[in-house]
Amino acid sequence: MERKGLLEELQEIDEQCIMSTYARQPVVFVKGCGARLWDAEGKEYIDFLGGIAVDAAGHCHPRVVRAIQEQAENLLHVSNLFYTEPQFRLAQKLTAIAGMEKLFFCNSGAEANECALKIARKWGKRKEPHAIEIVAVEGAFHGRLFGTLSVTAQAKYQKPYEPLVPGVRIVPRNDVSALREAVTDKTCAVIVEPIQGESGVHPLSTEFLHAARELCDEAGALLIFDEVQTGMGRTGTWFMWQQLGVKPDILTVAKALGGGLPIGACMAHGVAANVLEKGDHGSTFAGGPLITSAALATIEAIEEEGMLDNARTMGEYLRAQIASWRESLPVTEIRGAGLMIGFDLAKPVAREVVRTALQEGVVVNATGENTIRLLPPLNLKRDEADEGLRRLRTAIEKMVNHA
Ligand SMILES: Cc1ncc(COP(=O)(O)O)c(C=O)c1O
Repeated sequence: MERKGLLEELQEIDEQCIMSTYARQPVVFVKGCGARLWDAEGKEYIDFLGGIAVDAAGHCHPRVVRAIQEQAENLLHVSNLFYTEPQFRLAQKLTAIAGMEKLFFCNSGAEANECALKIARKWGKRKEPHAIEIVAVEGAFHGRLFGTLSVTAQAKYQKPYEPLVPGVRIVPRNDVSALREAVTDKTCAVIVEPIQGESGVHPLSTEFLHAARELCDEAGALLIFDEVQTGMGRTGTWFMWQQLGVKPDILTVAKALGGGLPIGACMAHGVAANVLEKGDHGSTFAGGPLITSAALATIEAIEEEGMLDNARTMGEYLRAQIASWRESLPVTEIRGAGLMIGFDLAKPVAREVVRTALQEGVVVNATGENTIRLLPPLNLKRDEADEGLRRLRTAIEKMVNHA
């Protein structure tokens, strides 16, 4: 009874006190465990979205919760003017699993990419002539800060904020000859998402990625992989570069790293690892002991509980089940790797499907009018997958038959 009207009350506060940047679904979540969520009325949901690729180890993984509780009792924040142990333990572990040498901690994906762009610019300015151009790919999403927004080549995000950071060249997705033209001796970096997540789970071709590596080597430019969404095991390996055979100079990560808490990192190896020097960059909160303890526990949970293997097998299972819907539902293309899945509907009802799916008890997301995206926890179990698929299928049937 106490909870009655909670949603309406929060919606009213939203309207009055919060800048209206988010189109929220009408639900108040109060509890999560593994791949399940519960709302304020006690209704249970299967979570196929995982907080947009954040809850890799599932909601409230006991190991992560314990790490947070233990650290919270001792020390929360002192700043980067001092040493705290969890930050350094995490740096050692994260660079090892990512195949990188050094990192800079920050608080989000956009900040990780911002750091990558600053390294690239500083590196490029050492060259003669100064190489300050950054090449990015159409449809990419790298963040909403001014630098990252400038390489987020989508008009809907960029238009209201122009003029943007100069020196950015955009090439169409997977267009190798356009890439060849764009990368010159003025280029300091090429930035790519190996699979473009926000624009609808679109993988870049291996041909394009290999060409990017070769062209960067020829031009003395840095190759940046934005693995904010694909990283931390999402696609079945810790990072996607490890299954592509193309190694970037700079690798960014965020989302799943903190087990639900905000943290990002910009990692680098080779020349890129030593570009930033004392005073070049910084962040008050970055690498604090609470969040780095949670991140370390998250990595240990993913590693020890075989979640990378599970991401591969459950990803294949989900894609095969969705493919089987084609016999009776207008499902067209299915894309992705591991537990990063996008599929298209022939009818533009994806947003309605998301709303109906919520009523049916499964959380999914639409990246456009036709595309549904799934980013479930990496420890998703078979029975949870089956139940979530059953509910999602019902939602699609209802919307397709109504449209
Ligand atoms: C590939 C990629 N890069 C960067 C970002 C920005 O991350 P954040 O929202 O943590 O700033 C996102 C967020 O969706 C992303 O998917």
